[in-house]
Amino acid sequence: MNFDLIIRGGTVFTPGGPAQGDVGVRNGKIAALGVVNGDAAEVYDARNLTVLPGCIDEQVHFREPGPTHKEDLESGTRGAVLGGIVTVFEMPNTDPSTTTVEAINDKIRRATGRAWTDFAFYVGASPENADELGMLERLPGCCGVKMFMGSSTGTLLVADDENVARVLKSGTRRVTVHSEDDMRLQERAAMVAGGADVSMHPEWRDVETAVRSTQRLLALARAAHRRVHVLHVTTAEEMELLAQHKDIATVEVLPQHLTLAAPECYQKLGTYAQMNPPIREARHRDALWAALNAGVVDCIGSDHAPHTREEKARPYPRSPSGLTGVQTTVPVMLNHVAEGRLTLQRFVDLMSAGPARIFGIAGKGRVALGYDADFTVVDLKAERTITNDWIASRAGWTAFDGMSVTGWPKATIIRGHVVMRDDELLNKPIGTAVRFQETL
Ligand code: DOR
Repeated sequence: MNFDLIIRGGTVFTPGGPAQGDVGVRNGKIAALGVVNGDAAEVYDARNLTVLPGCIDEQVHFREPGPTHKEDLESGTRGAVLGGIVTVFEMPNTDPSTTTVEAINDKIRRATGRAWTDFAFYVGASPENADELGMLERLPGCCGVKMFMGSSTGTLLVADDENVARVLKSGTRRVTVHSEDDMRLQERAAMVAGGADVSMHPEWRDVETAVRSTQRLLALARAAHRRVHVLHVTTAEEMELLAQHKDIATVEVLPQHLTLAAPECYQKLGTYAQMNPPIREARHRDALWAALNAGVVDCIGSDHAPHTREEKARPYPRSPSGLTGVQTTVPVMLNHVAEGRLTLQRFVDLMSAGPARIFGIAGKGRVALGYDADFTVVDLKAERTITNDWIASRAGWTAFDGMSVTGWPKATIIRGHVVMRDDELLNKPIGTAVRFQETL
C-alpha cells in the first residue's frame, strides 16, 4: 500500500492557489500532491468538491471543567468537526479558571480520547500568576496567554495598566487579549444594572469602552516590545488604530459581527444576540468588512460560548453573554464567499494560514508536502439551511437558525483520518495536542 488515504480529483487549495488534482496521505502527513498514482487503504472521491487546508478556530469556550456549564470537550469538538473545523484553541475562563500548570495538564488529560479535533489551551492571565506566565505559556499543549482587560463570563480580569504591563513583561509569545476597558464598564454598569432591554448592551459596552482599551493595550505592548492578538474587534475606530500597529498586533473578527447588526439583531434574537464585545450598528459591520478586505484582519474565530436556553432566558443583564458558533463559522463564511464579500483565497488565509502564522503552529494551516493532512472539504455550490437541530453543542441553538447558505463542509479530515463525512461522524475522537514552533 503506497498511501493510507488518497483524496481524488478535487480542486485543491495549495499555496499557489486552486489546482485540480489529488492528495496522497501517509502517516498523517501530506505525502504527494498533483497526479497521485498508487493504491491506498482509503480513497475519498472529491470530484466537484474543493479541498481546503483544515480550518482552525482559535477562540472557543467549551467550559470543561466546571459545574455551571453544560458543554464539554467532547460535545464542543463534535460540533467543530461537523462544521468543518480541524483544530480548536480553548479559552481559560472556566470554573475554576485555567491559570496553573495543573489546570492546563488537567484539560489535556480530559481532551485526550474525547476530543474530535486537535486542540490547544490558553492559560489565563491574572494579577496573581502574572509573574509566572513566561513559564506557563511554554507548557506543552498551551497556545499562549489570554488576558481579559474587560470582565466577561467568569472571573478572569487584568484591568489596570500596571497589571497589564506586568502580563506583557512576562514571557515572549504573542499575548491574546479581550479588549474592553473595565473601568469604563464599571462606571456605566448602572445604565443596565436594575434591568434594561438587551438592545442597551452596545450602549453600556459602547464604542469608547472598546477603543480606550485597545489604545491602552497598543501603547503598553509597544513599550513592552510584545506582540498581541486582539480578539473579536467590533468597531470602525479600533480598525483604524490597529491598521497603524500591524507590526505588533494581529486581529481577529467573528462571523457574528460580520453578519448581524444592531438594532435588528436584538429585536429578532433578544438575549441570543447578547455577547461581549457587543454586536453593533451596520456602520461598524461595514468597517469590519473594509478592514478584512484591506488585510488588517488576520483570522476569524467563533468565540463559541455555549450558554443554555435556560440561562439565556434570564432577564437582561442577568442573561449571560456569548453565542454558539464553532459549527456555523465555515458555512456562514462560505456563504459570504458565495455572495462575493471575500474570495475563497482570503477565506483560506483567514481560517487556516492566518491562525498558523499568528500562533506559529507547527505543521498545520497549509496544503504542502510534509504538513499535517488536515482538510476541510467543501461543496461551494451546496444550498443548505442552518437549523438548531443540526447543532451538536449541548446549548442546542444558533443565532443563525433559519439562515439559508450556499457552501457547506462535506468532510473534515484530521491527520489523514476522515472524522466527518456528509454530516456524519466517523472514526473516533483522535484529537491530539497541537505543537508550536516557539516551544518545540
Ligand atoms: O460574549 C462572550 N462570551 N464574550 C467573551 O469574551 C466570553 C464569552 C464566554 O465565555 O461566555
